[in-house]
Order: sequence, then structure tokens, then C-alpha cells
Amino acid sequence: MRKRFGIWSLVLVSLLELGLCGSGLAFDKVKFAVISDPHISIPQQKGVSDGYKLGLKTVMLTESVVAELNQIPELKFVLLSGDLTQDAEPWNIDELRRILDGLKVPYYVVLGNHDLSRVPHEKKDQPVTLSKYTVAGAFIGHSGGMVPGMTYYTHEVDKDLVLVSFDTSRAQVFVPEAGLNDFGGKLDVGQLLWLEEVLRKNQQKTVMILTHHSLVPWGEGDQNNHNSWGWFRLDNSDEVRALLKKYGVKLVFSGHRHISTRYQQVDDMYHFVSPSIATYPMRYTVYEMTPEELSWEAKNIPAPPEVWDLARRNFLADKWWRGPDHPDTPEGNRKYLDFYESPATMTGKMTYK
Ligand SMILES: [Fe+2]
Ligand SMILES: [Fe+2]
Repeated sequence: MRKRFGIWSLVLVSLLELGLCGSGLAFDKVKFAVISDPHISIPQQKGVSDGYKLGLKTVMLTESVVAELNQIPELKFVLLSGDLTQDAEPWNIDELRRILDGLKVPYYVVLGNHDLSRVPHEKKDQPVTLSKYTVAGAFIGHSGGMVPGMTYYTHEVDKDLVLVSFDTSRAQVFVPEAGLNDFGGKLDVGQLLWLEEVLRKNQQKTVMILTHHSLVPWGEGDQNNHNSWGWFRLDNSDEVRALLKKYGVKLVFSGHRHISTRYQQVDDMYHFVSPSIATYPMRYTVYEMTPEELSWEAKNIPAPPEVWDLARRNFLADKWWRGPDHPDTPEGNRKYLDFYESPATMTGKMTYK
């Protein structure tokens, strides 16, 4: 009897160390999907075209992914990790809301750097853009995510499974040295205080983070700020990771980087990045999670072959997204494709350590 008690004590201690036990997690298996960066722009908008982002196809592609998600049995919810619209235009917000409301399951969004008002500058003729508070307000509704007056939120998406959604956006100002709008992000002081309070209250539950900007770099260019790529990562990502680690958070999902599904383990946390709906390789990801493990599968968004050809051609023709290691040579193209398609991580499974 004493021996049996000893074994069970060991099991209990191990589970507590993993942060997976606490008062007992109620969800035993949950299936969800992550979609990202739809950059919705209705084709009727002046100046919309198919470039690296397939501006004219964003509505069709997002409708297509919603239709496919509706066919997945036992799907519990959908996460959307930001860059909802081209640039927070009112008609694009309405269009995205219409499309997402076609989902049979609840969905939860975060704001990206494209989902707030743009500060006008002399070099660009740009349409009306809205305040991020207005954009966030459009997503208050049936899902129980966004709440009035806030641009970030927390919500228990399943029993003892808590989603924490960041607002990493900051003013969309033109930066002459970079030749583009600031696409970086930061978690401000008020949100850090809010986050710690949320984490403190949910220590006995599983917490997953949804953020547009990543908390880790995904390549050398991100690390070295090539093409201002340091802006793919939160400015204060070290500080945020330290706070999440303190409370044993295991899972972080981000977008913004427009590479295929990939993950890395940093600070005892699993960081996943999600591909864009609107740029090659247009994909979404389905996850299955238990309190002990996570498996996933990245899938191509259903689209006609000519749309795939166009996406790939425009991807290969682009200079800015190539990065320092991917020159326009056969070998450079192979590495460029490998980096963005990430074929080795189309499917995966891991046990929390
Ligand atoms: Fe994006
Ligand atoms: Fe972004």
C-alpha cells in the first residue's frame, strides 16, 4: 500500500511540475484551427491589385478557407492572428465580419499592424482608415472575445483552456529611413500589468497566447533587422517571454511573418507562427491538443490552379521578402522556397516538456 502511494505521489509531482495538473484540467481533447493575415481588400477598392499579397483574391481565399473549416468534424473554434484588413478600411472590416460570421464555430481575432488608422504622409494616396478601437469593436459579438472599449481580451475557450489575446499594434507612421510604415509592435505598460493579473488568476488552467507579432525571431533577417525585419518581433519580446515563463505558459501563436506553419521552443514555451491566407504558400493549420500533447497539420487553402500559379510567380518575383540569403538564382530560389514553404513542418506532434 505504501509503495503504491509512493508511485502515485511521483506521478502527481511530475504532473504538477509540468504545470498540467493543478486543480485538474477539464478539456481532454480540443481541435481548433489557426488562420492568419487575410489582409482583406474588396476588389472594388481603388488601387487593389495582385502582388506579393493577392489583393484581388483576399475575399475569395478567405471565403474558401471558411467553407473548408466548416467541413472539419469536431472543430471547436478558430483563431485569427491579425492583419485582418488591408489597412483598417471600413468596407473591408464589414466584409471580413460577413465572411467570418459564416463559420459554424466561434472565432477569436487579434489586431495586426494593418488594423489601425494610418497617419497620412505625402508619398501615398490612401483611403479612409479607422481607429483600432473601432476595428476591435466590430468583433464584439457571438464569440465572446473582444469586449467594449478594449483592443485585447481573455476568454475561456474550453473548460480550463484560457485564450489571452494581445494588442501589439502601435501608431502606423511612415518612417523615411525604412521607406515604409512602421510595422513593429510592443506590449505597452498597461497591457503588461493586465497580462500579469490574468496569468496570476489562471495559474491552474492552460493558457494559450494569440499575438500578431512574434515573441521570437524566425530567421537571420529577423535577428539582424535586415529590411527592418526586427519589426516582425515584439520590441519587448524578452520581457513578455519572461513574464509568460514565470506563469508556466506553454503555447504562443503568432502571425505577421507570412511563412508557413513553424514552431520553436524558447524559454520552455512553444512558439508557433501561422501562414498568411493572402500570400504564398496560402495555408491554414488545424491543431489537436490534449493537456499533454499537441499535434498539427498545415493545409493548402483550396484555390484554382491559376491562383496558385500566380501566388507562386509573384512570390518568386518579389525582392523585399527574399531576405539576405535568398538571391534570385536557382540555389537562392530553392532556399527562399524552403524557408517560406517549410515542408518539414507541414505536420507535427510534440509532448510538452
Ligand atoms: Fe500580414
Ligand atoms: Fe503584420
